[in-house]
Amino acid sequence: MSVHQSKAHDSAVKHVTGEAQYIDDMPEPRGLLHAHLVTSPVAHGRLLSIDTTPALAVPGVAAVVTAADIPGKNDIGSILKGEPVFAEDLVAYVGHPIGAAAALTPEAARAGAKAVKAEIETLKPILTIEDALTAESYVMAPMEMKRGDAAAAIAAAPLSLDGEVMVGGQDHFYLETQVAMALPQEDGDMLVLSSTQHPTEVQHMVAKVLALPYNAVTVEVRRMGGGFGGKESQASLIACIAAILARKTRRPVKLRLDRDDDMMVTGKRHDFLIRWRAGFDETGLLHGVEMTLASRCGWSADLSPPVMSRALSHADNAYYYPAAHFKGFGCRTNTQSNTAFRGFGAPQGMIAAEAMIETIARHLGQDPLELRKRNLYRPGRDRTPYGQKVENFRLPTMIEQITAKTDFAARRAQIRAFNSQSPIIKRGLALAPVKFGVSFNNVMMNQAGALLHVYTDGSIHLNHGGTEMGQGLFVKVAQVVAEVFQVPLDSIKITATTTGKVPNTSPTAASSGTDLNGMAARNAAMAVRNRLVEFIAEHCHGKPEDVVFSDGRVRIGNHDMSFAQVARMAHAARVSLSATGFYKTPHIHFDGKSMTGRPFYYYANGVSVSEVSLDTLTGEWRLERVDILHDVGASLNPAIDKGQVEGGFVQGMGWLTMEELVWDEQGRLLTHAPSTYKIPTARDVPRAFFVDLLENAPNEEMTIYRSKAVGEPPLMLAMSVWLALLDAVAATAAPGKVPRLDAPATPERLLMAVKRASEAA
Ligand code: MTE
Ligand code: MOS
Repeated sequence: MSVHQSKAHDSAVKHVTGEAQYIDDMPEPRGLLHAHLVTSPVAHGRLLSIDTTPALAVPGVAAVVTAADIPGKNDIGSILKGEPVFAEDLVAYVGHPIGAAAALTPEAARAGAKAVKAEIETLKPILTIEDALTAESYVMAPMEMKRGDAAAAIAAAPLSLDGEVMVGGQDHFYLETQVAMALPQEDGDMLVLSSTQHPTEVQHMVAKVLALPYNAVTVEVRRMGGGFGGKESQASLIACIAAILARKTRRPVKLRLDRDDDMMVTGKRHDFLIRWRAGFDETGLLHGVEMTLASRCGWSADLSPPVMSRALSHADNAYYYPAAHFKGFGCRTNTQSNTAFRGFGAPQGMIAAEAMIETIARHLGQDPLELRKRNLYRPGRDRTPYGQKVENFRLPTMIEQITAKTDFAARRAQIRAFNSQSPIIKRGLALAPVKFGVSFNNVMMNQAGALLHVYTDGSIHLNHGGTEMGQGLFVKVAQVVAEVFQVPLDSIKITATTTGKVPNTSPTAASSGTDLNGMAARNAAMAVRNRLVEFIAEHCHGKPEDVVFSDGRVRIGNHDMSFAQVARMAHAARVSLSATGFYKTPHIHFDGKSMTGRPFYYYANGVSVSEVSLDTLTGEWRLERVDILHDVGASLNPAIDKGQVEGGFVQGMGWLTMEELVWDEQGRLLTHAPSTYKIPTARDVPRAFFVDLLENAPNEEMTIYRSKAVGEPPLMLAMSVWLALLDAVAATAAPGKVPRLDAPATPERLLMAVKRASEAA
């Protein structure tokens, strides 16, 4: 057996010894030029002229390009048009690329870029969500999701409340910053090595800017040093700039952003301003919910429309709203263009639900956990606001399991007793459920391809459309193929993702990498296996159903051959040992206009319980203990999945408690390096951290070996940390009063919340 086993990441040793090659580690080709960006120093302005001559005078500088040097289209918008590679008439944020210089050394390229003179007439920028809402400055038409008449339901309900919460953005802070190397080929073709989650989109965008057919551009990626959504659409910009310079100079060009440039230039998680209004009865049972979600999209649309649809389709989290009305506004601001980030809007939507539940519970003087349980979906009966039936809903039993295991009720009582005795240190405890829809909201994207060759020594070459960013996709898909042939995992060669082998791929995103590519690879392997079965049965005068693959051997009757032997024999008999595989997710549909359908093949579920202690004099806090129970179906690889749960949780905790993006009044990002932007480190991992995968829980849907996607859902488990902090703050407030706690809940914000709470008390 190869699946359902803990196997090390195929590059684990290479990662820790430093042998794993990232693009910047590759041997540099002869004549390589290094590129550096010329960027806008103002947030909004008219670009009057650009003078590149001083840059060309800098020693070592080989070329400087601007919009005028783009042979094809100056537009790389992934969904909507209007996203130029280089600004033409307008600059729209501090960091907006205007041009790029290429030189023999990175230092000369930087000096060249600095020497470019751009004349810009400054315009007034729109920087915040509030300002954009007032100005009705949007990147897309407002979105709406509704079921029933929420306003009437709220008006008719015995009680109602409203509230507001802000949740900040987040920089991806992948360890490998954005990078691409473009290598001109014969006949004007271009080979691009790109650190991208979406090789096909990079291929398309490079082809468009260079005015080439898609078949003249090949994009390859062996691995990324993290992507987290930041390299889904935004890798194209980097690859296109390298390619434009490579075309112009006819030399290979590498563009690697340093950390500051990466943070100044590329987009992040959307921050959201959330307003809600709810009608409910005396027990806290919800009757109707209205929500307005406004996101800061930055200067362009990028992936903001689908991020908003995912936010709206997760603003219920795990709760049933009999009547619901959600509105989504994608605000255009003069800041970086925000993009995909682990969870893709769902975390922001779910925070809206949790903030609302928390407020209602405290208002009613109820235990928030009781209110959560009371409003949970009832499986098989309830539908989400977008009309999908909630089936096989595991949260009720998972909540029972984790509250029993963590002794939740007893600890809640202990903490209350502790807090009543402790004037300065307050403890907080909270449980957060997670229900995350798996599949791209856009049905078309739920497809994948694979290519597989068996060689005559029995070794196997595996390729598929998914990309490896550390999440362990490659080892999982290799396990699937090893399972089909019943051969050792190390007889499978995992190869770089390239548009030349598997074309027209979707990005590796929406956590569906394994679901999609695992199935496609299985289909490819089954195609070869079926041919081998037929051949061997005929050859040995037996029946196909009697052919058995096990332990690297193939048996039928009293014939017993190694897998390699069978491969050789099949080849000698002129049986093809290669196959492509294809897969598309069944049963899903979604109407983007009415925002209804069944967008998700299934839901991934998780629950977490966090306990914190808060110093109410300084706002400093400690994460005392975290318990997680997460549902990955029948795990393909428990070790990898556990790693994803732990990593996702810690990244989510960073988002909600310490990572803070700050722009000044001119729209300059002040937090563009680790000196000013704090991500969680090993020391922030909870000291008591217990992660369990839900056992004996194969996916009811026919996913690859009944597993479930794991990449994004655990990030949202970190909501329990934020909720526990809120609980600790609430211990300083008068009963029934609900302190507002925006995210990230930094010590400053916690201190202010405590101050407001105790003043009110
Ligand atoms: N894990 C690591 N180590 N590095 C990453 O960049 N990206 C996350 C998640 N886990 C990421 C990660 C995101 S945003 C997604 S969508 C999924 O992995 C993508 O991979 P999958 O679909 O194969 O799970
Ligand atoms: Mo992940 S945000 O879907 O790349």
